[in-house]
Amino acid sequence: MRLGAFLYPAGYHVAAWRHPDVPADAGMNFAHYTELARTAERGLFDFLFLPDSSAMRGADMTELSRTAIRYVAQFEPLTLLGALAAVTERIGLTATVSSTYNEPYHTARMVASLDHISGGRAGWNLVTSQNPYEAYNFGLPEHPDHAARYHRAQEFATVVKGLWDTWHDDAWVRDKAAGQYFVPEKVGPLDHRGEHFSVRGPLNMPRSPQGHPVTIQAGSSGPGVDLAGATADVVFTAQHRKDDVRAFAEDVRASAEKHGRDPESLQVLAGVFPFVGRTRAEAEEKAERLQDLIEPAVGLSLLASELGHVDLSGCDLDGPLPELPPSNSGQSRRDLVVRMAADENLSIRQLYKRVAGSRGHRQVVGTAASIADELEDWFGSGLVDGFIVMPPSLPGGLDDFVDLVLPELRRRGLFRTAYEGRTLRDHLGLERPSR
Ligand SMILES: Cc1cc2nc3c(=O)[nH]c(=O)nc-3n(C[C@H](O)[C@H](O)[C@H](O)COP(=O)(O)O)c2cc1C
Repeated sequence: MRLGAFLYPAGYHVAAWRHPDVPADAGMNFAHYTELARTAERGLFDFLFLPDSSAMRGADMTELSRTAIRYVAQFEPLTLLGALAAVTERIGLTATVSSTYNEPYHTARMVASLDHISGGRAGWNLVTSQNPYEAYNFGLPEHPDHAARYHRAQEFATVVKGLWDTWHDDAWVRDKAAGQYFVPEKVGPLDHRGEHFSVRGPLNMPRSPQGHPVTIQAGSSGPGVDLAGATADVVFTAQHRKDDVRAFAEDVRASAEKHGRDPESLQVLAGVFPFVGRTRAEAEEKAERLQDLIEPAVGLSLLASELGHVDLSGCDLDGPLPELPPSNSGQSRRDLVVRMAADENLSIRQLYKRVAGSRGHRQVVGTAASIADELEDWFGSGLVDGFIVMPPSLPGGLDDFVDLVLPELRRRGLFRTAYEGRTLRDHLGLERPSR
């Protein structure tokens, strides 16, 4: 079973920062991240993952003061991973990079640098950006439309990987006696000329330890699945119903095949939001404690943004969701939340409480044994290759998973007892592309 540790600064729950055991400055607290990274490594996670967005949420300061709460200040993630590389040895280090608001040369260089610094433990999650307020920081009145963002993302990934391949593995001889630094025949420019990018190359560093640092993709819409099939080694999904995950995994593998890749080389990891207790009652109490810390205005604005930044003001909180207008934001999450409301007949208030916690991801509440049963059910039936674990609050939620659930998974022979390889590709059983 593959496992990633999803590290939202204070934890994935929207009210986590208010929990008494969570440092309120979590996102800017390097000691906190060091502790988390070391705990995840002690647990032998394949990798840790840092989500990202290049903007505070909120169109104006009033809205910002209510909604920014879940993106309270946080370090730029690749910079943070560079520092975490120095305080860990084996765990994979991954973070989100938006193809909408970056240039591929910068990205190729930063992620390859991290791969060199960490000895082959780097990965990037290629997203097209969800948070609409990012646009305001890059000279745009709104995101480019959904299809255009994915179009750019495809070319972006092609350029990044092309740059990683501009040098042969054995190009840098650095022969002092002969005065030869590299072998000129073993480098080529990229000379990419496309619709969005013109990049000559080569990259200004040797090929990195993994050749290609691990590429993650997390969009579930049609274009998202196409991008995953074309580029991803690992695919995250928020699907929480078995049939949906099965269909999603089949689509992703079919897309990989269409792009001439081995469909079995892609690893599908489902998001899981766990409340772990020594008893079920203790787990439920942990969940309730966080739910009680949600301020209604925060819950409502969070729901509005998960639904594609719709306006829910004026709606009766104890009534059902209204008919929603079309949105240019992420599609799959919105569909998932709308369906959850309809299936379970939830009022807006009930829905925001639900969404504020797991935000559409699969929530599991119980003991180590019951949670291991739920994970085993999905993994054992071949539905997914593993999970991206989203502790509700940090560090407590990660400690619980590492100290209670992982020993149970090991007892069942489902998870490693030691790291065998050195690179993230090794952990994930992915081949290193040679050049
Ligand atoms: C586990 C997981 C992590 C994600 N992390 C980020 C992130 O850090 N930043 C971001 O903008 N989007 C993130 N996303 C959102 C997706 O990349 C994608 O934008 C979203 O699912 C909408 O895409 P779609 O319209 O193709 O479904 C994440 C999604 C999942 C399932």
